[in-house]
Amino acid sequence: MTILVIGARGAVGRQVVAGLRAAGRPVRASVRDLAKADFGPGIEVVQADLTLPETLPAALDGVSQVFLYAEPSGAADFGKAASAAGVERVVLLSSGSVLVPWATSNRITAEHRLTEELLSANGPELVPIRPLALANNARSWAWSIRSERIVRLVHPESVSAPIHERDIAEVAVAALSGADPRAVSALLTGGEPLTLRTQVGLIAAAIGAPIAVEEIDETRAHEMFGMGGTVETELMEAVLHFVRRGTEPGGWYRTDTAEHLLGRPPLQFSAWAQDHAADFT
Ligand SMILES: NC(=O)c1ccc[n+]([C@@H]2O[C@H](COP(=O)([O-])OP(=O)(O)OC[C@H]3O[C@@H](n4cnc5c(N)ncnc54)[C@H](OP(=O)(O)O)[C@@H]3O)[C@@H](O)[C@H]2O)c1
Repeated sequence: MTILVIGARGAVGRQVVAGLRAAGRPVRASVRDLAKADFGPGIEVVQADLTLPETLPAALDGVSQVFLYAEPSGAADFGKAASAAGVERVVLLSSGSVLVPWATSNRITAEHRLTEELLSANGPELVPIRPLALANNARSWAWSIRSERIVRLVHPESVSAPIHERDIAEVAVAALSGADPRAVSALLTGGEPLTLRTQVGLIAAAIGAPIAVEEIDETRAHEMFGMGGTVETELMEAVLHFVRRGTEPGGWYRTDTAEHLLGRPPLQFSAWAQDHAADFT
């Protein structure tokens, strides 16, 4: 039976499609705007928007499993549509923050927890995947690296263990292949605790050019990167909270979830930097 990947153009979603196809599984890719579909020949593409329930029945027709992104406003309707379509398992790209005790009240956690709750209450079996820090967050430095060869960082010595989108997708494919839900939904991290400054250095090595790090304080970060709205301010506060905690003993996490599920160590950040070198040049 077909597996629907909602958000198939996303960094993780695209790798989920690739992984399922490599395994010979029948895949349907969905996008919000069909004009932006860019999957090459041989792949079935449909339109689906989690905030537009009327787009879901056709996308879910004949589907046994779904991969999707967290969108709390559409989660209850999606769950009902998936149940009505006879879907058996939903694999959600959630967030490891739902498992971090000191992060319970932040906006990122709240949105992912709410999505998990609404999908659980309204739909088929839910298997959340819970990565904590995406290596892809470093793409937010691309513009200043390209234009000035500089990255402005709050707390450059903050530590995290970022995970490559290919590893997250491989965990999702395992979940869509019957892996134990408890193993799949454990806190998911990369294998290397790295400071932000070290990540910048690994990108510099990948592009073969030096990149300066300029330390800024949190007020300046709000001025430079804040979008001004209440939601955006709360999201930025949540991110800054994680970055601040990463400077403290016990404030960062590294788990063996990926290695346990994939049977190999997680990809290193240096591999991520090489995969994305073109984004920074
Ligand atoms: N940043 C972190 O450290 C972190 C940590 C834990 C979890 N996460 C989770 O990881 C996600 C980012 O993953 P990513 O890098 O793969 O994201 P991405 O590349 O930005 O892709 C997001 C995808 O979501 C799809 N999408 C968004 N709204 C949708 C809607 N209403 N209906 C259907 N599809 C929708 C988009 O579809 P279209 O292509 O059609 O626009 C796009 O394909 C975050 O949003 C968060 O939930 C992030």
